[in-house]
Amino acid sequence: MATDELTITRPDDWHLHLRDGDALAAVAGASAAQFARAIVMPNLKPPVTTVDQARAYRDRVLAALPPGADFDPLMTLYLTDNTSAAQIREAARSGFVHGVKLYPAGATTNSDAGVTDIRLASAALEAMQAEGLALLVHGEVTDRDVDVFDREKVFIDRVMIPLRRDFPALRIVFEHITTMQAAQYVRDADDGIGATITAHHLLYNRNAIFAGGLRPHWYCLPVLKREEHRRALLEAATSGNPRYFLGTDSAPHAQRLKEHAAACAGCYTAPHALELYASAFDAAGALDALEGFASHHGPAFYRLPVNAGTVTLRREPWQIPESLPFPGDAIVPLAAGETLQWRLVARR
Ligand code: DOR
Ligand code: ZN
Repeated sequence: MATDELTITRPDDWHLHLRDGDALAAVAGASAAQFARAIVMPNLKPPVTTVDQARAYRDRVLAALPPGADFDPLMTLYLTDNTSAAQIREAARSGFVHGVKLYPAGATTNSDAGVTDIRLASAALEAMQAEGLALLVHGEVTDRDVDVFDREKVFIDRVMIPLRRDFPALRIVFEHITTMQAAQYVRDADDGIGATITAHHLLYNRNAIFAGGLRPHWYCLPVLKREEHRRALLEAATSGNPRYFLGTDSAPHAQRLKEHAAACAGCYTAPHALELYASAFDAAGALDALEGFASHHGPAFYRLPVNAGTVTLRREPWQIPESLPFPGDAIVPLAAGETLQWRLVARR
């Protein structure tokens, strides 16, 4: 008989965009309703490059939470060509910075200040390796001559393999993997690597971007890939292998900037993230693997305790809202108006 209710240890989101200011205030509560903690991405304008900026941003996140929320934002620094070893040591000792994000310059939203050549970051990477501070990698090359659907695969050969050879003890999260090549690479690599996988890459292939017309709400980076890749990601996420863990990459943009001639990349999944993951795991007949992926594997990688408390999901159809409030505009969540078969019903 199919399971109709599932109670799991309270989960965390190991890759989240919370933005800042009014936008932060509009979205922070959604993540706090689902997750106990989240790794908060530093790609603000300007980016969060110093420990002082990360501390101030953390304070703004906490201030934006609804009264009574129980949510711990785990902060990150944005790696630049100029990040020093001293800044890394300060971050590692801060107690609230849990990773440093590598955006190849130009790879995605607000990545202009990112690393232009990984060799320029050597001193920072050495210090991270020594301190045990994780490097969180947006794994796509930015070369214009590389097809957008191949940029992750090419990144493995051109950047990831040399990086791991040069810094063998550096702890790395290959963020939001989207290809069978990345899933296999992470599975077979030496220790000290993990990968986050989004709900949308488990549920959709690239046809979703073009179904019935060009659909910008399904546009994110790295872009959705072919069905064979979706299947490989689903197999990885449901395998029980602790190297794979939940990271929504929920990336809110105002409706007018998504429904635009040059639509921003990013899917807003925070309000129904667990329900989306449960749907993907259920479709694969692997609901029993959800707890490890959502609640245990991430803390093990980040060397943090597993959360106390639980959340309960129930098989109960409900409709994702067409639109949600967002400053000066609205925000359209992923799969707006569609019916989900799982619903988060309790948090204890
Ligand atoms: O789709 C994306 N949106 N991918 C990223 O890497 C960044 C994110 C954002 O910040 O909007
Ligand atoms: Zn992201």
